Amino acid sequence: MSSSATSAKEPRKKRSWPMIAAVLVAGALVTAGILALLVNIMERKEEAKSPYFHVKNLDEKTFDPAVWGENFPLQYEGYKKTSEMPKDEQATPPAGDPRKFMAKSKLKEDPRLVTMWQGYAFSVEYNEPRGHEYMLQDQQLVKRVTQFKQPGACLNCHASIPQVLDSIGGDKAAAWATMNKTPYKEAVKHANGPIACIDCHDPKTMKLRVTRPAFIEGIKEYKAGQGIKEYDVNKQATAQEMRTFVCAQCHVEYYFKGEEKTLTFPWDKGLTVDDALAYYDEVGWKDFEHKLTGAPAVKAQHPDFETWSNGVHASAGVGCADCHMSYTREGATKVSNHQVASPMRSDATINSSCLTCHHSTEAEMKQRVNTIHDRYEHAKDASFDALDALIKDIEKARKSGVAADKITEAQKQQRKAQFFMDYVVSENSRGFHAPAYTISILNDVTDASRKGQLALRGDIGAGAAAASTASPSSSPSATASPTSATH
Ligand code: HEC
Ligand code: HEC
Ligand code: HEC
Ligand code: HEC
Ligand code: HEC
Repeated sequence: MSSSATSAKEPRKKRSWPMIAAVLVAGALVTAGILALLVNIMERKEEAKSPYFHVKNLDEKTFDPAVWGENFPLQYEGYKKTSEMPKDEQATPPAGDPRKFMAKSKLKEDPRLVTMWQGYAFSVEYNEPRGHEYMLQDQQLVKRVTQFKQPGACLNCHASIPQVLDSIGGDKAAAWATMNKTPYKEAVKHANGPIACIDCHDPKTMKLRVTRPAFIEGIKEYKAGQGIKEYDVNKQATAQEMRTFVCAQCHVEYYFKGEEKTLTFPWDKGLTVDDALAYYDEVGWKDFEHKLTGAPAVKAQHPDFETWSNGVHASAGVGCADCHMSYTREGATKVSNHQVASPMRSDATINSSCLTCHHSTEAEMKQRVNTIHDRYEHAKDASFDALDALIKDIEKARKSGVAADKITEAQKQQRKAQFFMDYVVSENSRGFHAPAYTISILNDVTDASRKGQLALRGDIGAGAAAASTASPSSSPSATASPTSATH
């Protein structure tokens, strides 16, 4: 035993040079290995950033997503899946309708919506949203289009705009103006399909880009209000911001300005609901005159981006795509889920979105979202009852000859209560995108409804009420365009 121990001593010394050499060689190998690994990682990162297979050359005339799909099959596969619709969300279309199934009616779920929109096309048909694949078809078949006159401006968010403008031809800005004001039924002949790859991606670099003039202009107005002049979204937005801005081209509140029917976002004062109403009061806008009360009403539409902007995820820099297009890995390549849908649809999507940040479980995340939805429904119910009561009280007061100044004051409160309520129910996350903010808007609905009822009783006069409304001096009913039936 000891001999082997002593015999081991000598060779160890003798081997000291070769040992050092071996260590050096090993070290060099490790270094080379690490370098190789780094190079590999960097290559893979490059790959992940630009996985070009270049089967096809893409350019500004490649409108067909199937052609892009030859270069990017995984993203194309996801994109096609926007046609998948869970069974429990499907409804049966009316007789003669070419669709196999459609989305459920929101009006059937809550008749108070019908009361709120009396005198407006939305009281006739309004449904849940569904996948992007259906955006053009659902628009063409909705009664708001088949039974009412609409402008081509509706296409802005329901078709591939680069393709439509190319089909109209000539200068892009002029083609856009033409599309907006052309009657829908003519303009839609230029549209070949729903949103496509070219709407969100530069065909040469695959970088995200904004292709819609209304957002380019709207965000410029918003930034100008924040003291930033001549903001150019496609040059100045960060890559992370673009993961929200591509969606905010469409998922926003809007109106069609003037006889030109120019799609416009009411953002020059900011992105809150108060800012939007102050904008509409200032320009004297109304979408319709309420049939039961005569109030100059404004319809709100899907302010998903604005609501998100007022929530904690926005402040933490979490964008739409982080939740609705979360990454999955295919080998070394990161693939964004192009089946843009609710992240709560499956455990897999909850996992790839929420759980990348929240150290939690799928079940717990579902529970948190359900709790937010429940609180939202509860608060909405209470304030919707208040608004509903105000509308019925104004209707009665007009019939029983209550003084005009009291009615006018009550109509002003209805205008506010109704726009705020609409803003919340037209937002698509049922409170999730900004829970506390959404509840605070609902509180304002209750408050304005109560003030409207007090005004009818004469308990608050025009003078007293002036301090509590956004813009007491403007008179929207007098200045609004008479041809403002836009939706
Ligand atoms: C061109 C306008 C447009 C853009 C851009 C757009 N959407 Fe949509 N989105 C729509 C329309 C329109 C619908 C409803 C289609 C229908 O009901 O037929 C919709 C539906 C949805 C739905 C409901 C899907 C479902 O299966 O229920 C989600 C979620 C959604 N969009 C999120 C996003 C996100 C996230 C982005 C950005 C990555 C985005 N959208 C970009 C117009 C757009
Ligand atoms: C932190 C994650 C998160 C972010 C960020 C986020 N959303 Fe959502 N969104 C949700 C959740 C959760 C719901 C509720 C889904 C449900 O209950 O099934 C939702 C619902 C929606 C819906 C309705 C989906 C449906 O199936 O009816 C739309 C549309 C939508 N979001 C668009 C957007 C847009 C546009 C943005 C960016 C401005 C955005 N979301 C940002 C998580 C997010
Ligand atoms: C509504 C906008 C939108 C549409 C339409 C769209 N994409 Fe994307 N795409 C995105 C977003 C957002 C990302 C994430 C980009 C980032 O963060 O850099 C993305 C990423 C990609 C990437 C980079 C790799 C990855 O998956 O993150 C490829 C490639 C891609 N998309 C291909 C396509 C193809 C092909 C189509 C049409 C079939 C398409 N996209 C349609 C929004 C869109
Ligand atoms: C990229 C990171 C990220 C992703 C993805 C993300 N979150 Fe969050 N979330 C945050 C941060 C940061 C906060 C704010 C700090 C906090 O409360 O932990 C937050 C807050 C929340 C809150 C509290 C909201 C409030 O107003 O108080 C809820 C609920 C929530 N997240 C749910 C979700 C759900 C559900 C998903 C997936 C659909 C999700 N989050 C995806 C980062 C993320
Ligand atoms: C600024 C973008 C934008 C414009 C302009 C726009 N939409 Fe939409 N539309 C959306 C988005 C986003 C959705 C999905 C979210 C939702 O349903 O709230 C949607 C959903 C719809 C739906 C399915 C759900 C429903 O409301 O029944 C129909 C139908 C529709 N729009 C018709 C129209 C018509 C008609 C016009 C023109 C008056 C129009 N849209 C103009 C963005 C837009």
